[in-house]
Amino acid sequence: MGTGEKGTLYNGSSEIEFFLDSGAPDRASPTHAGLNARVEGPAAPRPGRAPQPLSPEFPPAPAQGACVQAVVKTTRGPGAEVRTVPDPVPKDDEVLVAVRASSVCGTDVHLWQWNEWAASRMKTIPLVLGHELSGEVVQVGKRVSSLAVGDHVSAETHIADGTCYQCRNGKMHICQNVQVLGVDRDGVFAEYTVLPAMNAWKNDPSLDHSIASIQEPLGNAVHSLVPEEGLADLTGANVLVTGCGPIGLLAITVARLLGAHAVYATEVNPLRAGLAKQMGADRVLNPVAEGPEVLRTLLSETGGNGVDVAVEMSGHPASLQLAFDALTSGGRVSLLGLYDREAALHFDEAIITKGARVYGIFGRRMFTTWFQVKALLARPELKEKMAAIITHRLPIRDLPKAMELLQSMQASKISLEPKW
Ligand SMILES: NC(=O)c1ccc[n+]([C@@H]2O[C@H](COP(=O)([O-])OP(=O)(O)OC[C@H]3O[C@@H](n4cnc5c(N)ncnc54)[C@H](O)[C@@H]3O)[C@@H](O)[C@H]2O)c1
Ligand SMILES: [Zn+2]
Ligand SMILES: [Zn+2]
Repeated sequence: MGTGEKGTLYNGSSEIEFFLDSGAPDRASPTHAGLNARVEGPAAPRPGRAPQPLSPEFPPAPAQGACVQAVVKTTRGPGAEVRTVPDPVPKDDEVLVAVRASSVCGTDVHLWQWNEWAASRMKTIPLVLGHELSGEVVQVGKRVSSLAVGDHVSAETHIADGTCYQCRNGKMHICQNVQVLGVDRDGVFAEYTVLPAMNAWKNDPSLDHSIASIQEPLGNAVHSLVPEEGLADLTGANVLVTGCGPIGLLAITVARLLGAHAVYATEVNPLRAGLAKQMGADRVLNPVAEGPEVLRTLLSETGGNGVDVAVEMSGHPASLQLAFDALTSGGRVSLLGLYDREAALHFDEAIITKGARVYGIFGRRMFTTWFQVKALLARPELKEKMAAIITHRLPIRDLPKAMELLQSMQASKISLEPKW
């Protein structure tokens, strides 16, 4: 989509057409002109490639050895560029995936902005950005037997070494040498991407690509609510979700599906507060507008007891405090939100004398969380709610527009279509 062209705003139940007046450069502009920054020569021919196209609604793949389009972080600074890169070649234990949908995550926004976290975290440049994915396998490595050409897959974005202390103890998501897709190795904002077969999660082919792409943040929400075995039943529980970004919104819905008696949410952004209601929150409280009244409300609504489960999904220190203040003694808190600074807590009151259980949540349990996600996706209402958090659908070439919308908090989840 270029300047002045039409796009679609999806509000969960209907699509509204809108016009773009700025944003991505046109295809003919210098950033799209095939600068070939990373092209050292033609990619190796790939015998065994699938006949194309696999799905007739998508264009056929370029010839073997051609270059493909990708959004590449080319410098240690803000932004990224659409470039042509060599068509990636899967190793023996990897698969090549044609990207059918991706979506923008807060992590992508940080990398785009090039904030302090991004500058210290991102080591490899140039690098293809993006990690939320739905695609089709077009080639399998020699040693891959679990997947076949034509399979629909999403990506578990934590690529583990499989051999460290954590991996050998069944905790691959916190592997000592974890590589994150689109942060440490080439990601999915591209026509094609390569995934270790281990990280390619096979989807039901009837699952809509834009929904399938959002399984990864859905997994974050499920992991937060179900941090270990035996905690998946929330029947009768009072749950607090602080922060209603896409992950908090998904957590509200999942808490409902797991049987929560009441779900309370906090959010400061009006668009997202509205979506939190739509996701099924009983009360959505605004800590900025309501101040200390928020805690009083949470306590009075729970008969003075406080909530049984709190999931902190804002990354704001005030929410961290609220999550523990509102927790009933013996309750549990899952911390997913990332703080870009030290966050203080009075440990005696917040945790020790409350007998609180605290879980640090990183990624998804591999692959228990994915099986739980799959089971939950059998519930049609979850797919409906996931569609409702997609506020915008944009061609991937409009990523600058997507970033603008997210940075100004005018969007929730933005789904990207593979249109270059
Ligand atoms: N631990 C992990 O594996 C992991 C994975 C992905 C994202 N994250 C982090 O989890 C958090 C949630 O992710 P997301 O993609 O939904 O992010 P997001 O930034 O879109 O959502 C955060 C939400 O919190 C709201 N908020 C800010 N201050 C608040 C306050 N005082 N009270 C209530 N709400 C407040 C914001 O308006 C926003 O809607 C972020 O901090 C993100 O960096 C962690
Ligand atoms: Zn993500
Ligand atoms: Zn490991």
